[in-house]
Amino acid sequence: MIYKYYNDEKFEDFACGRVIYGRAGFPNYPVRIAGEVFKRCLEYLDKKEGITVYDPCCGGGYLLTVLGLLNPEIVINIIGSDVSDEAISLAKDNLSLLTVEGILKRKQQISDMIANFNKQSHKEALKSVEVFLNIVKNRRITPKIHCFNADVLDIESLKKYDVKTDILITDVPYGNLVSWSDENDNAINQLLNNVISVLHKNSILAISTDKGQKIKNDHFFRHEKLKIGKRVIYILQLKE
Ligand SMILES: C[S@@+](CC[C@H](N)C(=O)[O-])C[C@H]1O[C@@H](n2cnc3c(N)ncnc32)[C@H](O)[C@@H]1O
Repeated sequence: MIYKYYNDEKFEDFACGRVIYGRAGFPNYPVRIAGEVFKRCLEYLDKKEGITVYDPCCGGGYLLTVLGLLNPEIVINIIGSDVSDEAISLAKDNLSLLTVEGILKRKQQISDMIANFNKQSHKEALKSVEVFLNIVKNRRITPKIHCFNADVLDIESLKKYDVKTDILITDVPYGNLVSWSDENDNAINQLLNNVISVLHKNSILAISTDKGQKIKNDHFFRHEKLKIGKRVIYILQLKE
């Protein structure tokens, strides 16, 4: 993939475990790819602001948190769901970093770590806290945030929260670190069938997966297929 929107920007402030909370067993997502894919999705939407974004396999919420920080003037609703309670708990902590209160709590934690351990990495994290605060204090809109437990392979479970999203962006399970809750060869297509209930006719989807999971779904057409290393990202929309 050739990047259109992000070139040599450095994203170390957003590194997992620095200010954004990390936990063993929870993957994160490359910030540059996340930002690029989101902007490409926006190209296909009629509206360019007031955007609702939903990740139905949100894990620890890293991807959503980064998108909220990169697009503070565009995103007004941020919604995440995951089948794992532990993931949702981490996602709530991470998405709290999109609020002044959540960042000040994190600032106190990092200051306490500096007092206890005097580590350079914590001092750098404290500088990144100021970057977060600057973003959050200067934006015109405060996004609404909602996280809930739901199995995307179970359509009834998705109905727990009434979502109609403009952009559905997700990094589905693959590889050794995380797997689908249900051993199912066609999980990615089942996800697509189920998420129709949370889309409107112009919603754009970005599904990030590996080369092993093939998308074959008659309800959607493809705007783009992006290949980056072992990842494949499909940008899709419902057929008329
Ligand atoms: C690759 S991780 C997502 C990481 C996330 N994008 C982030 O930035 O933190 C995939 C997630 O899918 C979740 N998952 C697996 N099966 C699921 C299902 N049936 N419904 C919803 N989430 C599921 C896993 O619990 C895991 O958190």
